[in-house]
Amino acid sequence: MQTPSSVDYGYLRQLVFGLSQNVLDPSRDYLFETRLTKILRDQGMARLEELVQHLKVKRDSILERSVAEAMTINETSFFRDSRPFELLRTDLLPALIESRRNTRALRFWSAACSTGQEAYSLAMLMREHFPLLAACNLRIEGTDICAEVVERAQAGSYHRIEINRGLPARFVVRYFDHAGEMWTVKPEIRKLCNFRNANLCASPFPFSRADDRFDVIFLRNVMLYFSQETRKTLLAAIHRVLAPDGILFLGSSEQPADPSIWTPVLAGGTCYFRPRQPS
Ligand SMILES: C[S@@+](CC[C@H](N)C(=O)[O-])C[C@H]1O[C@@H](n2cnc3c(N)ncnc32)[C@H](O)[C@@H]1O
Repeated sequence: MQTPSSVDYGYLRQLVFGLSQNVLDPSRDYLFETRLTKILRDQGMARLEELVQHLKVKRDSILERSVAEAMTINETSFFRDSRPFELLRTDLLPALIESRRNTRALRFWSAACSTGQEAYSLAMLMREHFPLLAACNLRIEGTDICAEVVERAQAGSYHRIEINRGLPARFVVRYFDHAGEMWTVKPEIRKLCNFRNANLCASPFPFSRADDRFDVIFLRNVMLYFSQETRKTLLAAIHRVLAPDGILFLGSSEQPADPSIWTPVLAGGTCYFRPRQPS
C-alpha cells in the first residue's frame, strides 16, 4: 500500500494552520491517518492521497473545515486542574460578587470550551456555593472552533466515564439526570450556559469591545497549539474584552506571550492574570 508523501502531509499541515492556526509538528503526521478516517469513509475514499488530491483540485471549503476541525485536540474534563475553580470559590468570586453588587451581573467565557465541561463546572460551582447568585444576571459563554464538540456541549450529555473524571459525587446527584450510561445536565445548569461555534484566531473576534466585558475568562489548554505570534494577537484581543478588574486563567503550562499587558498573580497553588491598564 502506498503511503502519503511528505508533500501531502505538508499540504494538510498548512491547511490546518490556515484555518485554525493550530501548528502541527511533522513528527505527528501519523495522526492524520487516524483522525481523518471518518472523513475518508464519508467521502467514499480509501486513501489520504485521494483526499489531498480532491482538496487541491476542488478547494472544497466545507471539507477543508472538516479536516481542520478533525485535527483539533478536544481533551477536557469537569473541574480540570481543580485549583482555578477552588481559588474562584474561596477568594475571587466573593470579591467579584461584592464589587458587582450594584450591577448584579457576572459574565464568564470558556474560550475553547470543547465539549462544555469547563463551562458547566463554573455553572455548578456557582449554584452550589453562591446560591444568592440565582437572583443575578449570570452568563457563561462557551465557544470552540469545532462544530462537533459545540453540539455536544449544547446537548450537555456525558457518558458515565466522562462523569467519573473529576466530578464530585454530590454534584452528579444534584445537577444531572441520567438514563442508562448517559448523564445530562439539569436545565437549571444548562440555562446558565450558551455555546456557539467560533474561531479565536479569525476575524471578527468572537466578542467585541461593544459587548459587555467579561469578568472571568478561561483560555486554557488551547494556546499551546498556536505560534508565538498567534498567541500575542489572541491575548491582545482577550485583553480588550476583559473587564479592567477581570481575571484570566490560562492552562497550567501556559504564559501570556506579551507579559507587558498582564500582571501574574500567584495564589492557591495556581496563577491567574489581571489585565494591566495603559498608563
Ligand atoms: C484541549 S481542548 C481544551 C478544552 C478546555 N479549555 C480545557 O482546558 O479542558 C482545546 C480546544 O481548543 C479548540 N481550538 C483549537 N483551535 C481553536 C481556535 N483557533 N479557535 C477556537 N477554538 C480552538 C479545540 O477544538 C479544542 O476543543
